[in-house]
Amino acid sequence: MSGLGLLPTDRLFVLTGAGISAESGLATFRGSGGLWNGYRVEQVATPEAWQADPALVWNFYSMRRRDALASEPNAAHRALATMEKQMGDRFYLCTQNVDDLHERGGSLRVHHMHGSLFESRCERCEVPFADRGFYEDGNTLPTCKDCGAAVRPHIVWFGEIPLAMEEIYAKLAASTHVLVVGTSGSVYPAAGFVQIANQRGLKTIYVGPEEPLNAGAFDDIRLGTATEILSGCLDG
Ligand code: OAD
Repeated sequence: MSGLGLLPTDRLFVLTGAGISAESGLATFRGSGGLWNGYRVEQVATPEAWQADPALVWNFYSMRRRDALASEPNAAHRALATMEKQMGDRFYLCTQNVDDLHERGGSLRVHHMHGSLFESRCERCEVPFADRGFYEDGNTLPTCKDCGAAVRPHIVWFGEIPLAMEEIYAKLAASTHVLVVGTSGSVYPAAGFVQIANQRGLKTIYVGPEEPLNAGAFDDIRLGTATEILSGCLDG
């Protein structure tokens, strides 16, 4: 991994965002103006939206399931899978994305801090389970087989706490390098990881076509698409 300047003992923490899936045809949040069918994404991705209109929320996530199923992983997803194979336990991948393109690109261990598109959970029992269903007809929304309560997408909505934050901070503390790919740096706590890393003296690298909002915390900004730059890192 000489393209990233890594030594054999270095440990790499990777954070990805919607930009890594852009070249697979999945719209980024800010790129689409943050809008879906005239709604702001925040209006359909909050606990309040779920309480007010679960059919609308399921409609949105059913569409996202369809879009993800119709897309394929790209060279950037595959490059990260190759890095994982080469580095083993010295590599950690945390994604804000809820799609499964990292896994389909060959990554073995992926932490989905904002949840997973192809999982749902009963809002009372809270246990996530695999679910590839589409609930676009408001009359047939899913309910829990055990308790009958409503089943919701296993997604971290605005105002909710991302998954396994302690593990993330522990991995960050144990790393020497942080590589951030395709995220605007606008949603916390993920946008703050690089600031923590920077204060601790870790080497921080950003990959994407434009500078993120938290650009000041990066040592190295590589402007370009994820597929171009990450494939180049492997060539080394
Ligand atoms: P954004 O839509 O905010 O940002 C996408 C970033 O990808 C932008 O900075 C683009 O410049 C960059 N980008 C576009 N094309 C790219 C390419 N080909 N290669 C690399 N980068 C590219 O998406 P996120 O930062 O991921 O949260 O959004 C963060 C969170 O906000 C999401 O996880 C979601 C959202 O609301 C929740 O749902 C909780």
